[in-house]
Amino acid sequence: MSTQSASAPSGDLSFEPNGKVAVVTGAAGGIGLGMARAFTSAGMSVVLSDLDADRVEAAAASLRDEGHDAIGVATDVTKFDEVQSLADAAMDTYGKVDVLCNNAGAAVFAKLYNVTMDDWQWTLDVCLMGPIHGVKVFQPLVQQSQGGGHINTTSSVSGLIAGAASGPYNVAKSGVIALMATLEREFRIQKGPHRASVLCPGPINTEISRNSVRNRKAVKGEVSEGGEASKKLGDKIGNFLANGMDPDEVGHIVLNGMMEGKFWIFTHPKLLKLYREQNEMMDENGMLSMGKLT
Ligand SMILES: NC(=O)c1ccc[n+]([C@@H]2O[C@H](COP(=O)([O-])OP(=O)(O)OC[C@H]3O[C@@H](n4cnc5c(N)ncnc54)[C@H](O)[C@@H]3O)[C@@H](O)[C@H]2O)c1
Repeated sequence: MSTQSASAPSGDLSFEPNGKVAVVTGAAGGIGLGMARAFTSAGMSVVLSDLDADRVEAAAASLRDEGHDAIGVATDVTKFDEVQSLADAAMDTYGKVDVLCNNAGAAVFAKLYNVTMDDWQWTLDVCLMGPIHGVKVFQPLVQQSQGGGHINTTSSVSGLIAGAASGPYNVAKSGVIALMATLEREFRIQKGPHRASVLCPGPINTEISRNSVRNRKAVKGEVSEGGEASKKLGDKIGNFLANGMDPDEVGHIVLNGMMEGKFWIFTHPKLLKLYREQNEMMDENGMLSMGKLT
């Protein structure tokens, strides 16, 4: 069951998934794999990519075992050349790319005082430069899509309301909302059949906390100097997310959002209450609302 309301399409175009080709980053598990499952179940072919070569190949193989069309490609989205190679692999295999989902992400959970410059660099590279690389490399391909191309980026509710203890993540996720809003406005000015959207999930039951620690070690050699405090906070957040939404449900919400021509795609629309409160206080007294965010 979707938590998204079945309201009238907000865009003026309908997106027909059958026969389209999608590239999804960060697709070895979690939300990315949920998207890949939803897309293939709607008749799309999917290029799954991830930093983790073994897990992404296993994920693609599991879709092929179910009779779907999917390949896995190891890609580090922080490296422009690797994102270009991902596009080349997609074009070599399918001859086109209709959809890009910039979904790869990672988080360091620490208060700003403890965030190191490495934490900043790593998080911004993965969560902000990754999508920027994706848009730069894939926009020319997606714009050639017959019948409507689409670029989606996974932000977060954290991109709208910056909570405590995840500063670099908040900054990156806020940045990708600006990136996708710019792209969507430019697509609309072109009056073509292409669209951009942003996914702002609430809590989803994935391994992001553990994957982030593992990937951070693999790339930077050591975990943040936020050290034990960060690790404890990460574990706490990991446990909280275990009660979150199933990532397969998120995949269907994204597919439906694209088909309805939506720009904003939410998994937990109720959380928008916090955003409204923030805007109301901005208007009323110029203070930052605290709500449940402390
Ligand atoms: N889980 C949540 O509650 C939640 C909430 C809001 C937003 N998000 C966002 O959803 C997206 C997917 O996260 P998830 O929750 O499914 O966690 P996840 O850890 O299952 O998925 C993220 C994937 O990105 C991959 N990745 C990390 N760095 C990479 C890099 N440099 N290049 C390529 N791949 C890389 C990881 O290996 C991992 O497989 C992320 O952007 C995350 O920030 C998640």
